[in-house]
Amino acid sequence: MKIYDVIIIGSGLAALTAAKRLSSTKNVIIFTKSGSKDSNSYQAQGGVAAAIAGEDHWEQHFTDTMKAGAYHNIPNHLEQLTKQGAGMIAELMEAGMEFDREKGGNLDLAQEGGHLRRRILHAGGDATGKGLISFMLERLKDRVSIIENEVGADLIMENGRCIGVWTKRKNGEIRQYFAPTTIIATGGCGWVYTYTSNDPTITGDGIAMAYRAGAELTDMEFVQFHPTLLYKGGKTIGLVSEALRGEGAFLQNRIGQRIMEGVHELTDLAPRDIVARTVFKEIQKGREVFLNISHVKNFSRRFPTIHWLCTRHGLHRDGHLLPVTPGAHFLIGGIKANDYGETSVKGLYAVGEAACTGVHGANRIASNSLLEALVFGNQTAERILEDGTQHSFSICTRSDGPSISNILPDKQEIRDKMSEKVGVVRNHQDLRDMKDWLEQFEFLHVNQLSLSEEQMEVRNMLTVSWLITTSAIKREESLGSHFRSDFPFTLKKQGRKEFIRHISEKTM
Ligand code: SIN
Repeated sequence: MKIYDVIIIGSGLAALTAAKRLSSTKNVIIFTKSGSKDSNSYQAQGGVAAAIAGEDHWEQHFTDTMKAGAYHNIPNHLEQLTKQGAGMIAELMEAGMEFDREKGGNLDLAQEGGHLRRRILHAGGDATGKGLISFMLERLKDRVSIIENEVGADLIMENGRCIGVWTKRKNGEIRQYFAPTTIIATGGCGWVYTYTSNDPTITGDGIAMAYRAGAELTDMEFVQFHPTLLYKGGKTIGLVSEALRGEGAFLQNRIGQRIMEGVHELTDLAPRDIVARTVFKEIQKGREVFLNISHVKNFSRRFPTIHWLCTRHGLHRDGHLLPVTPGAHFLIGGIKANDYGETSVKGLYAVGEAACTGVHGANRIASNSLLEALVFGNQTAERILEDGTQHSFSICTRSDGPSISNILPDKQEIRDKMSEKVGVVRNHQDLRDMKDWLEQFEFLHVNQLSLSEEQMEVRNMLTVSWLITTSAIKREESLGSHFRSDFPFTLKKQGRKEFIRHISEKTM
């Protein structure tokens, strides 16, 4: 029997941050279903937001985030996130992490949508995720076992407590691992949409697993669509960072009209949901949308990843117009977790995009996700270190459940249907159609261990698609990233009141 102190499922920034803090005293094992660098964190371009500049303050970062999040954010959690940002970055730099600097040696801070200040740290130009993940992996290499190509299939539960995980190797071998503490850090579920910036591995596995184990989920209707995915031949081929708009790029249609003018006071740097809907509407009218990068200085040096992407796909800089379309980027909802990663299930923690800590409200502001991974990854580890829970384990037999009896759809079918029915703009009829379509498949009460890895992923995609769809049906209003054409207004101002109270309590 394999017993550890902590099991971490997933290998993105939140997972590695928690592992780094835990590994000094705990026996930690990390599982990832593919390679340790196949994560959304690794692909992150823009950077990490933190109020680190002399003239900046965490309260301003807090206010910008609340505003972008349509005041649906949980203020106490957000306060911790924004307050701890600068310290967390300083700690990383002290440990040797290098962020990009200007010629004079000062940190080169970028600006992205919704931020009223330049507060985005970046590394390798537009390869911030790669820089951070490589840095973390280097520090963890002799301290933590990282098991690649082994997928978490289901949580092992005993009397309502999570005591470990069933896994499956690529060769079909089934294993069980036990620990008093399991952390889900498997990211979101962007692959349930056809147009997405996400890695193909991001199929909602951890969220579906937690749901099957009875964990509370929240805010699943809030899926963030990034306004600028590079578009060619009917496909999206990668992300074009908002940071480009921070350096002067702007959105236009083919006849040169700037589409963000008159839409929002921040024009091209408006919060992401507003920009995504504007691009979407323009495309719906049959007009292509382009990001005009003619004013961006040192494009190839400052944005080497995007430059490489354009060159590779023949979308060269001549003409300075990059064809773009919106696509699924980030799941704002997820496994309900507090600021210490605790979920509603004993022994189970959730961090990063798989978790919903409420900091992002209804629309995540740019570059707060890597910050969340760092700050709450670290806090989750602290809480686990404080918690002395011991547990004795006995071999479990496989949980019963029928094998799959009916035919499952293929991934592309789910992705196309989700894009058509539960995309940037939603309505009751489309959402009902999607729910009915999903419910013809048996995906909840099935023994996951009887499935192939592909079938497991399909089942997880069906589960998270159903969760997004049914949550979107229930929210009969438009708020942040959730837009209903049949309810194009916001119902409650509850969040805003809470925000005002929170700020005034602080100033008393
Ligand atoms: C971007 O670089 O535009 C994405 C950054 C983020 O999602 O936070």
